[in-house]
Amino acid sequence: MCGIVAYIGNKQAYPVLIKGLKRLEYRGYDSAGVAILNGDMRVYKRKGKVKDLETYAKDKVTRGSVGMGHTRWATHGKPNHINAHPHVSGNERLSLIHNGIIENYATLKEALIKLGHEFESDTDTEVLVHLIEEVQKREQLPIEEAVRVALTKVVGAYAIVVIDKEEPSKLVAARKASPLVIGIGDNEFILASDATPIVEYTQRVVYLNDEEIAVVNKSGDLQIKTIDDKIQTPFIEELDLNIERLEKGDYEFFMLKEINEQVKTIADCMRGRINAAEGWVNVGGVTEYYERIANAKRFIVAACGTSWHAGLIGEYLFEELARISVEVEYASELRYRNPIINEDDVIIALSQSGETADTLAALELAKDKNALIYGIVNAVGSSIARTTHSGSYIHAGPEIGVASTKAFTGQVTLLTLMAIHLGYKRGTIPRSYYLQLLNSLENIPSQVQEILDKNDQIQYIASEIKDATNALYLGRGYNFPIALEGALKLKEISYIHAEGYPAAEMKHGPIALIDENMPVIVIATNHSAYEKIVSNVQEVKARKGKVISIVTEGDKAIKEISDYCIEIPDTDEPLTPLLSVIPLQLLSYHIAIMRGCNVDQPRNLAKSVTVE
Ligand code: G6P
Repeated sequence: MCGIVAYIGNKQAYPVLIKGLKRLEYRGYDSAGVAILNGDMRVYKRKGKVKDLETYAKDKVTRGSVGMGHTRWATHGKPNHINAHPHVSGNERLSLIHNGIIENYATLKEALIKLGHEFESDTDTEVLVHLIEEVQKREQLPIEEAVRVALTKVVGAYAIVVIDKEEPSKLVAARKASPLVIGIGDNEFILASDATPIVEYTQRVVYLNDEEIAVVNKSGDLQIKTIDDKIQTPFIEELDLNIERLEKGDYEFFMLKEINEQVKTIADCMRGRINAAEGWVNVGGVTEYYERIANAKRFIVAACGTSWHAGLIGEYLFEELARISVEVEYASELRYRNPIINEDDVIIALSQSGETADTLAALELAKDKNALIYGIVNAVGSSIARTTHSGSYIHAGPEIGVASTKAFTGQVTLLTLMAIHLGYKRGTIPRSYYLQLLNSLENIPSQVQEILDKNDQIQYIASEIKDATNALYLGRGYNFPIALEGALKLKEISYIHAEGYPAAEMKHGPIALIDENMPVIVIATNHSAYEKIVSNVQEVKARKGKVISIVTEGDKAIKEISDYCIEIPDTDEPLTPLLSVIPLQLLSYHIAIMRGCNVDQPRNLAKSVTVE
């Protein structure tokens, strides 16, 4: 949450900052602001999106080759101009941007008020800049030392950048539990929450570690220290990020682009990991720790949001194909309940961003208990990727639409590969079925394309149900998590209240809500429990519910009793989620567009939840 970007070098900073903020806007879009240093320090902030800031700053002086910018997802204090970052010290010498939460801000604020500091905003961040000012004044320290000493008094999570008007040729940055990447150009540095604002200027980056402080200056020097004052050697890495993947191309929204990219991203996730003709599957991260993973007593999946739904599918996959017992946990619950985790457990963290604070904290807890930590992550070099013992990238490329689509199918593809790999090696699936699954998996990308080709039909169905105020999604078995995911997609981008339920559970509550105004989306592919779900659809029809069904091509029974029906290609049951989710993504997308919603930046949400 919150995106930060900073520039120092020979270019004009403002355009670099604005472009960077637009790339980081997925992290929050409640307000935006910049500080530019050019003799004076000019700070411009606006409630709303980066484009509102741009309009506001259009006629203002924005010249200067040192600066920083922030896009906010509000935690402490309403989204307004005053609470927007950058925040400025009382003596107007320092300005600071922050991503994270200062947990002891109230105590610090009280102490600072006693010392005469006055605060304008309701934020935790403003306290930090006053604290640095106080240390700097009292101890007469250079800015990087004042920041370091101040941070020893702070409890919480932060990625910060600080500018000092009196030391105009440097930027100071620090991190703890919130990400910060330093791009190293020719006598210039671009610092940001992720690599997307950096990639067009340089491929060389340093990922700052927890409790490290960096100082960069105009002559091209980079120095890193820990908060307890130990000098560190910067570890420079090369980015592997294609700039085209950060642009919308011909699409109006990233979400639609990302839905359509799934033909390729699922194939990319499988590339080099499976060959049906030669009869092998190999997930590198599993092979590396095979003994511990294959002999695990239990897999515990820790995740949030859509990634948690992917984890639920993992439960069905691992239990059925590899006969390994699985628990799927909301990371935010797992981390706070003193869970029983043993050395022979494997914790699988699923995360698109690799930065979700709760998921990261759950991993650290499990690490302390000596479990093996396995990450399934999209963002290369992210905090979770760097915390795990082993893991696999899903290779979906940057996902920018806040509602996750291609990362979800990437996660499910990876879990499927792992389950087949482990199932075959552990002897829990016969070779013939194993080979069949490999073949079917290789066909998935072209089958996804077949579903995408039904876009017009799905758009029509969307137009028929777009005015609903509630919707119910039902599925059984592998399609139960898809019902949850379908409902989440609808509510997050169209603001229609939606719930996902196991189809049979409908009778224990939601059936009371069904009437002629309630669209009921039933995912009923032709596999186990099919007959049972036919009965569930009958129960919905008997209460006049409007049934939209997702069925396997050639289906008769459910098609006959549905109001609208979307057919998807047949595949083996464990692979069904990779297909059945696609029409639900498109359905939500079209409904949201028809309701005039900004699907890429739905209200109140952020893509990367780096606060708990
Ligand atoms: C936010 C995003 C979701 C995402 C969830 C978990 O809520 O809006 O799309 O599923 O965080 O994020 P992660 O990056 O850990 O998968």
